[in-house]
Amino acid sequence: MNSPTNPLIITIDGPAGTGKSSVAHMLAVRLGLEFLDTGAMYRAAALLAIEHSIPIDDGEGIAAALAATTLVFDWKSSPPKLLLGRRDVTPFIRSAEVTEAVSPVSACSDVRREMVRRQREIANAHPRLVTEGRDQGSVVFPDAPLRIYLEADPRVRAQRRVAQLRAAGHVADEASILRAIQHRDHVDSTRAVGPLRVPDGATRVDTSNLDLEAVVNTLEILARERLGPWLSITTTASVQR
Ligand code: DC
Repeated sequence: MNSPTNPLIITIDGPAGTGKSSVAHMLAVRLGLEFLDTGAMYRAAALLAIEHSIPIDDGEGIAAALAATTLVFDWKSSPPKLLLGRRDVTPFIRSAEVTEAVSPVSACSDVRREMVRRQREIANAHPRLVTEGRDQGSVVFPDAPLRIYLEADPRVRAQRRVAQLRAAGHVADEASILRAIQHRDHVDSTRAVGPLRVPDGATRVDTSNLDLEAVVNTLEILARERLGPWLSITTTASVQR
C-alpha cells in the first residue's frame, strides 16, 4: 500500500539507447525528486579498474579497490556529479575505453553486490528518488511503487547513437553500432547476476516512435496517476540530510 511514509522510489530500467538517463533526470526534475544514475556507478568501477590496471573480469580485485576508495554523488549539482575518491570523474566515464570495459565489469558478482548495497544506502539517505539502470526494479528496489521498463527497437537505438556521434563530429557506421548494441544487450541480459530483464509488475514503454519530450510526458502522467498526492508531500526523511 502506498503511504507517504514509505520511500518514494521510481525505477526506470531498460537497455542502452532508450534514452533512460535523460528521461530519468528530466522526470526527476519535473516531479521534484532526486536522480540516481546507477550506470555511472558501474562506469566509475570500470574506470577504477582501467586506472589501477586491474583485469576487467577480476570482480574481487575491483570490489577491493572500490572498498578502498569513496564513490559518492555530489547531490548539489543536477544531474549529480560522481566523485571517485575526491575527483569528479563525470567527464571520463563516457569514454569509448570505459564503455567497452563496463559490460564485463558489471557482470562481476562481487562488483554487483557492492553496488546494490551502495544503491540501497543512497536510497535510505535520499528516499524520494528516480533511479535508472538495468536491475533497479527487478533486484535493487522490487517494492518501488512505480517500476518502468523502457524499450526500443535496436535499429532505432543504433540510429539515435549515430545521430549523437555525428552531432559531436565523429564518423559513425550504423551497421557496426547496431552489432555493438545487440552484443551489449546479449551480455547484459544473459549474465548470471542482475541480468537485464523486465521487472515483475513493471509498466513497459516502447520509445521507438517517441521523442524524449514525449517519453517524459508519458512517464509524468503515469507517475501522477499512480503516486498522486504522495508526490506533493515533503517527508521529514527527505529534508533531513
Ligand atoms: O546505462 P549505462 O550505459 O551508463 O550503463 C553502463 C553499463 O553498466 C552497461 O553495460 C550496463 C551496466 N549497468 C548494470 O549492469 N546495472 C545497472 N544498474 C546499471 C548499469
